[in-house]
Amino acid sequence: MELRSLGPGVPDVTCIGFGGMPLSIADRPDVAESVRVLHAALDAGMTLIDSADVYCLDDDDIGHNERLIARALREWSGDPDSIVVATKGGLIRPGGRWESDARPDHLRSACEASLAALGVETIDLYQLHAPDSRVPLEDSVGALADLHVEGKIRAAGLSNVSVDEIRRAAAIMPVASVQNRLSPFFREALDEGVVEHTKREGMGFLAYSPVGGGRLNRKLPDHPVVSAIARARGISAHAVVIAWVLGRAPNVIVIPGARTVAHAIDSVVAAGVRLTQEEDRAIELAEFSIA
Ligand SMILES: NC(=O)c1ccc[n+]([C@@H]2O[C@H](COP(=O)([O-])OP(=O)(O)OC[C@H]3O[C@@H](n4cnc5c(N)ncnc54)[C@H](OP(=O)(O)O)[C@@H]3O)[C@@H](O)[C@H]2O)c1
Repeated sequence: MELRSLGPGVPDVTCIGFGGMPLSIADRPDVAESVRVLHAALDAGMTLIDSADVYCLDDDDIGHNERLIARALREWSGDPDSIVVATKGGLIRPGGRWESDARPDHLRSACEASLAALGVETIDLYQLHAPDSRVPLEDSVGALADLHVEGKIRAAGLSNVSVDEIRRAAAIMPVASVQNRLSPFFREALDEGVVEHTKREGMGFLAYSPVGGGRLNRKLPDHPVVSAIARARGISAHAVVIAWVLGRAPNVIVIPGARTVAHAIDSVVAAGVRLTQEEDRAIELAEFSIA
C-alpha cells in the first residue's frame, strides 16, 4: 500500500489507517471479535492505528481502545514495532458524555494512563483531541511540549483545529499532524484551508470519519453518483469515497473505522483506486445530504 508522511518525527504510514473508535464505543463487538478486526486490518497492510483514551463507554472505561490495541498487537503474528499507534488526550467521558479537559495537569495524567494502557514507554503520536475553550491553547500545547521533551511522546499532533490554532501551536512546538473531519458530507477542512495549510507546512492530515461516520456512511450504497462509480468499477461505495478523500491532497491519510473484518478489509481496496478526473469531479459536485 502507498506510504504517506504522517509528519516530521513519525515514520511514514500507509495512506489508509485503522480508526479504532467503533471497537470501543456503544454497540462495540466483544473483545475477541475486535481483536480479529484489528488483525484483519494489519494483515491487509495498514501500518497506522488511530486511538484515544476516550474511545470507551464512560469515565470508568477510559483506555478501553488502547488496551484492546495493545492486546491485538501482542497477539499479532506480524511485527508490532512496524505499526504506528496514534492516540489522543484532552477529552473526558463523565456519564458517557463527551466533554473537554485539556488542562495541562489532565493532559499529563491522561498521557501517563495512555502509556500504561498501550504498554509502551513512548507514544508514537500524541494528539490534542480538541482545544478546550476554558484553557488557553498555548497551555495545552505547552503540556504536550513538556511530554515531548521528557520522551513520553515521539511526536505531537492536533485535532479539531483551525488554521489559526495550528499556527499558534506550531509557534510552541513542532506539530507533526492534524486530524480533522473530512468526507464528501463534511468538507470544512478543505473549505477553511486546513488541508492546504498542513500540506504547505509538511504536516500529515488525518481525515477522520472519511465515509461520513457511523450513521451517514450507510447512505453511500444508495447515493446515485457514488453507487454508479462503484458499480462501474466493481468496488464498494465506501471504497469509492475513501479514494476520493485520499485524492484531496498528497498528505491526506484516511482512518476509516470498522466493527467487522469485512469492512476493515474492504476499505484497503481504496488504496489501489485512482479516480478519473470525471469521477472525482462528479463526487465533488454531487449533493451529500446529512439529513
Ligand atoms: N479526532 C476526532 O475528534 C475524531 C472524531 C471521530 C472519529 N475519529 C477517528 O476517525 C475514525 C473514523 O471515524 P468514524 O468511525 O467516526 O467514521 P467512519 O470511518 O466515517 O465510518 C465508520 C463506520 O463506517 C462503516 N464503514 C467504514 N468502512 C466501511 C467499508 N469499507 N464498508 C462498509 N462499511 C464501512 C463502519 O461500519 P461498521 O461499524 O458496521 O463496520 C464504521 O463503523 C474513528 O474510528 C476515530 O479513530 C476522530
